[in-house]
Amino acid sequence: MTRTRTLRLRSGSRSADMAGIALIVFGGTGDLTQRKLYPSLYHLAQRGRLPKGFSLYGVSRKTLTDKEFRRNIERDIRAFAHGKIDEKAVARVTGAAHYLSADLNHREGYERLEARLKPGTLRLFYLALPPRLFTPIVEHLDRCGMARALGAARSRVIVEKPFGYDYASGKKLERVLSAAFDEPQIFRIDHYLGKQAVQDLLAYRRGHPAFERSLDAGHVAAIRIDALEPGGLEMRGPYYDGAGSIRDMTQNHLLQLLAFMTMKLPRTSSAATIQSARAKVLKAVRPFRNRVDLLIGQYRGYHSEPGVDKDSRTDTYSSLVFEVNDARWKGVPILVRTGKRLTRKLTAVTIEYKPKQGKRHVFQLDPHPHVANEMGDYERLLLAAFDGERELFVSAAEVLNSWKAVDPFLKAAKRTKPILYRKGSLGPKGKTA
Ligand SMILES: NC(=O)c1ccc[n+]([C@@H]2O[C@H](COP(=O)([O-])OP(=O)(O)OC[C@H]3O[C@@H](n4cnc5c(N)ncnc54)[C@H](OP(=O)(O)O)[C@@H]3O)[C@@H](O)[C@H]2O)c1
Repeated sequence: MTRTRTLRLRSGSRSADMAGIALIVFGGTGDLTQRKLYPSLYHLAQRGRLPKGFSLYGVSRKTLTDKEFRRNIERDIRAFAHGKIDEKAVARVTGAAHYLSADLNHREGYERLEARLKPGTLRLFYLALPPRLFTPIVEHLDRCGMARALGAARSRVIVEKPFGYDYASGKKLERVLSAAFDEPQIFRIDHYLGKQAVQDLLAYRRGHPAFERSLDAGHVAAIRIDALEPGGLEMRGPYYDGAGSIRDMTQNHLLQLLAFMTMKLPRTSSAATIQSARAKVLKAVRPFRNRVDLLIGQYRGYHSEPGVDKDSRTDTYSSLVFEVNDARWKGVPILVRTGKRLTRKLTAVTIEYKPKQGKRHVFQLDPHPHVANEMGDYERLLLAAFDGERELFVSAAEVLNSWKAVDPFLKAAKRTKPILYRKGSLGPKGKTA
């Protein structure tokens, strides 16, 4: 595959015009923050791409001094960043860091935060904490005049999935977000969109007109989207047990891959046209031939994972069959499969052609050949959020259309007992289309 870069992120281009950028991490001591956000900020600093006037505020309930917080960030960078440590880049991040101890359920913390933020800065509020806190935080930001009142140039909110639990709760969350922020202020992260390999998929479609012409029901017999991994829950038992593989992977990452492969190629690369092309195709996704064809499994030993209910029927493997109900794709089955504790790591999109057209075209996204100095997904996403580049983020319509597409499968999964499979195997044996 050609490695055409689809994105030209302009570090600090817009941010440099402002009084500076404050990244406020709600959940400043959490797992995601420690493993992904601080190391990514460090890598951006290493590349010289942290915006001018950058400051970082960590907020959580734990009591820490600024000095202790900076020491913790340094610890996380040393533990999770790659390559030889660049001490200057470490100092650039820790030197910009401040800490605020607050329970975000109470207004008083927001008032203290406001008092510490420099006037005129662009505030990026990153919700890196449990979803039950999203609603109170967004409402408090609004009531304290830190949301819509400031506009997109001064205030943005970054939200991590899960964006709800099903269509109804997703809609509720969107209502809360849109009551406080305008859509251009909301940056919903699906970290797959930050992966170079995923962006390359679109670049390949743009760069190969013959391939692009072969993408329709006349040529394609089936599409397969696989995200298989040997890993397990990695200490995220309570979250995963309440979610399962369809909510954790299919509703977001894998339906985004489906959208990248099947959407009408947008004429321009503006965020609005790309988001709207993805939303449009996701709106047409439904169970193949309106039949809920589903296979779910659970690996043996899942019940002894920390944080997992001993009677849990949560799916750690699922195989679903969709269809895009439009003129281009109608009748082509799209098999979406994901699972944990399987033989090997593989994320791939495979186009299976009809006999006359040739065999297949495989886009292997993971493992993916390492390109020297390639940006990591969170690095790219943070930079895009600083610069207000929205095409790497997911719109409300995309979220809701994806929930609509998986809801019938979630309902069926609830009634279905998962088939047990051996750890390190190919998954459960069973019948699916
Ligand atoms: N971890 C991942 O790999 C990952 C991947 C994708 C998405 N996500 C999503 O990212 C979000 C964060 O996940 P996580 O795994 O990092 O969670 P986590 O490790 O449980 O961290 C939660 C953070 O929130 C803080 N917090 C909890 N209640 C608070 C309150 N009332 N006021 C202020 N701070 C509070 C905690 O610190 P205190 O206890 O000190 O307050 C901690 O810093 C979740 O939405 C998750 O679904 C995580």
